[in-house]
Amino acid sequence: MKKLLGTVVLLALIGSILTGCSKGNLYSREEMQNLHDVIGFVEEKQLEYQKVVADSLPSKLGEKLTTDMEFVDYLSTKDYDPNKPTIALTFDDGPKTSTTNELLDILEANGAKATFFVLGENLGEKTEPILRRMVSMGCEIGNHSLDHTQLTTLDADGIRSKIEPTNEIIKELSGRPCRLIRPPYGSADENVSANVSQPMILWDIDSRDWESRDASKIIPKVRDAACDGAIILMHDIHPETIEACKTLIPELVKQGYQLVTVSEMAYMKGITLEPGKKYYDMIEK
Ligand code: NI
Repeated sequence: MKKLLGTVVLLALIGSILTGCSKGNLYSREEMQNLHDVIGFVEEKQLEYQKVVADSLPSKLGEKLTTDMEFVDYLSTKDYDPNKPTIALTFDDGPKTSTTNELLDILEANGAKATFFVLGENLGEKTEPILRRMVSMGCEIGNHSLDHTQLTTLDADGIRSKIEPTNEIIKELSGRPCRLIRPPYGSADENVSANVSQPMILWDIDSRDWESRDASKIIPKVRDAACDGAIILMHDIHPETIEACKTLIPELVKQGYQLVTVSEMAYMKGITLEPGKKYYDMIEK
């Protein structure tokens, strides 16, 4: 590179001397061609180097993102307005190819994010692209256990056997560590708390979508209770929930809510989520 730049400078110098001598044309045709060839080569190399730098950045950033969670939260929330209210939409029991992708389309179209508490038994080759899509959209993936067993019915080993493999498969398939747990049925006692290493996220607004299976009932249940700091429970496995979200999500956005992930909301509210502790909402009291 240095050698090339040296050549350019040298040619320029020769050019200026020649100019001085001839008092006519700046460079001869041949000199112009030489200069052009060298500069073209330099420019080409420069583009190549730029590409190398640009290509290496995402992987460097990826390493940073998976090791420094505070940095992740800083980056993902820096464009939010701290003066506007936030809501964390959460969806349990998925992912399910036929419904979850449609929900992601709705979120994407509205510039919204959500948190998905997935079941380990639903994860595999078929659902990996959904997890990757969630990550690329900035959505969060949480642990809803391996197979929806009520954790309070299990001993320490039993609890670990439902939580830890699910954490691992989420990390393997999504490329991101799993930071949150939602115990099935929202059921967690001291024994559960003692045997998990992540915060447990419950909810304060229950859409009861699994019960009504009716968009016209799900919509007002959520809309009428919505407030800053709320955590809303829904299920991305029911077509009626997806139908409700077609109305609900744009409506909440229109009302001024920023639809963020659970970890983002905690970060924005200055709450440090502690392992084994239960959180129902992030409403400032
Ligand atoms: Ni569930």
